[in-house]
Amino acid sequence: MIKPGRSQAKIFLAAAVLLSTPVEAAHELEGRNIANGMTLYAEQCATCHGSELEGQPDWQRPNAGGVLPAPPHDETGHTWHHDNQLLFEDTKLGGEAALEERGISGFKSGMPEFGSTLTEEEIWDILAFIRSTWPERIQNNQAARNRPFH
Ligand code: HEC
Repeated sequence: MIKPGRSQAKIFLAAAVLLSTPVEAAHELEGRNIANGMTLYAEQCATCHGSELEGQPDWQRPNAGGVLPAPPHDETGHTWHHDNQLLFEDTKLGGEAALEERGISGFKSGMPEFGSTLTEEEIWDILAFIRSTWPERIQNNQAARNRPFH
């Protein structure tokens, strides 16, 4: 059923999800402080990734310096294609160091490191906020990319 108010309904739904307590403690993004993550996202991430998580224009095309613009964190981007650990390392170490950890060197990344300004808990809260904005289908899809978490 598609109605004009659908996107508002979506925002409403996202807010409802934000306020509800997660039922299952399945992985690292469960049981986080989403409200704190939302505030920190606005302060630390929105300048590049967009206040609506929309990313920078033309984000798939490298700029003159060969560096990719910031991708969206909403469902149109590729954030949800990655497991929790990679998202965490990208944020903590920055794009270049995170890739080096995975054996890819010499990549020029515009993603700065936040390990010196944010605690690990704060990083998880931000990532949990980002995840909370995705439709359930996408959340489940991303969850399936994680190794079972005990
Ligand atoms: C100075 C601009 C800038 C800021 C501020 C910034 N990012 Fe990024 N971010 C980028 C760019 C550019 C990329 C693409 C990186 C690449 O190509 O290596 C990126 C990539 C990422 C990725 C990998 C995403 C993906 O979809 O594959 C994550 C996760 C991420 N950023 C999280 C964050 C979080 C969380 C914050 C706030 C704490 C943040 N970023 C703040 C520029 C920024």
